[in-house]
Amino acid sequence: MSTRLDWISHPAGALRGELRVPGDKSISHRALMLAALAEGRSCIEGFLEGEDTRATAAVLQQLGVRITAPADGVRMIDGAGLRGLRASAQPLDCGNAGTGMRLLAGLLAGQSFDSTLVGDASLSRRPMRRVIDPLTAMGARIDSSDGLPPLHIHGGRNLRGATIDTPVASAQVKSSILLAGLYAEGTTEVREPQPTRDYTERMLAAFGWPITFGPGWARLEGGHRLRAADVRVPGDFSSAAFFIVAACVTPGSDLVLREVGLNPRRTGLLDTLRAMGADIAIERLGEQGGEPVGDLRVRHAPLRGIEIPVVHVADMIDECPVLFVAAASAQGRTVLRGAAELRVKESDRIAVMAAGLRRLGIAVEERPDGAAIEGGALRGGEVDSAGDHRCAMSFAVAGLVADAPVHIRDCANVATSFPGFLDTARAAGMAVTAAPATDEAAA
Ligand code: S3P
Repeated sequence: MSTRLDWISHPAGALRGELRVPGDKSISHRALMLAALAEGRSCIEGFLEGEDTRATAAVLQQLGVRITAPADGVRMIDGAGLRGLRASAQPLDCGNAGTGMRLLAGLLAGQSFDSTLVGDASLSRRPMRRVIDPLTAMGARIDSSDGLPPLHIHGGRNLRGATIDTPVASAQVKSSILLAGLYAEGTTEVREPQPTRDYTERMLAAFGWPITFGPGWARLEGGHRLRAADVRVPGDFSSAAFFIVAACVTPGSDLVLREVGLNPRRTGLLDTLRAMGADIAIERLGEQGGEPVGDLRVRHAPLRGIEIPVVHVADMIDECPVLFVAAASAQGRTVLRGAAELRVKESDRIAVMAAGLRRLGIAVEERPDGAAIEGGALRGGEVDSAGDHRCAMSFAVAGLVADAPVHIRDCANVATSFPGFLDTARAAGMAVTAAPATDEAAA
């Protein structure tokens, strides 16, 4: 019997009112890890109660860190100090989370003991050479199965600082190297082909580690200490993105999203949608724990297709699936290039979104590093999210403006990043319901 969870997204009217999205996933992972290595007690508020971030918390507990959850979205962490983690006899399960596994690989490379990192079926297919190679250059020893998880990380290595030019623009890779750099002798410097989100850098500074950084580079030295700090996590822009696009494409919509993290390395979608004609205003822009945070007011406006500037891609890498839906609802052709990384996310997001939108009547030309999408009238139908949370939620937005319900297969993994999505969507005016899974063969 199948335990697969499917959804049906029904056509619905305008999105109105205001809502909040769960805490930022990237910041929640990092706050746990740095607090675990710090001296003293840290408190995280606004923590994402998702499966990915809970998996990271469980791994750190297995490594001997005391973490308690006095309330939903709150974690108290008694830091073990840089050298205070303990070996785990059991493999460390990162679940679906690439961020968890790649960052932990860097953190564990500097320990005195061996560890094994494992993940679910999707994570077990994701490339790890991008962290194994630079960590090895720093003196780490990591065994993998041909560059794929599980990762067996040998302890007791003396890491050396190095200057690393990363071949892919990846905050996960950069962060993994910086975390290993905490344990390395001398200076570790990372240079990226395109600037990526700088949360690790900002948070290391907040936990008292001397670090210098700018767009596309970061430098630190080993041999310092982390001091406990309190972290208030803003709303996750990537979760807000589904509602931003939903309000853009649904006539009559006027929706406010409260307290969304607006780090400029995350908001490429805003620039892109505005270039397509969207009406999005930032209200009450402020700062929370060193991060820009604001309310977004999104009103419906007709979108037109554009050639998306490649410079925006790294700043909206997780928003590309829902951008496919915006492009499908726009007038004319939208072309996305320079986004080959989408093929190695939780699924091959170019293939999954192209296949799904075609089933809904949209002409999509798939390319190795992106797609050309012809805007048109979305039909109802059945699509497969391939177990990818962001594709599932993107198809839910497609169902909102399709002419008949959209049945979305394999949506359980939405819990990795957006627990409570169905309730939030309902409150905003969408009509997405859980559905009995259809027969594999019938789809
Ligand atoms: C993340 C970085 C991005 C992003 C992921 C979270 C992070 O991955 O896709 O969801 O927290 O560092 P890459 O940096 O590998 O592109």
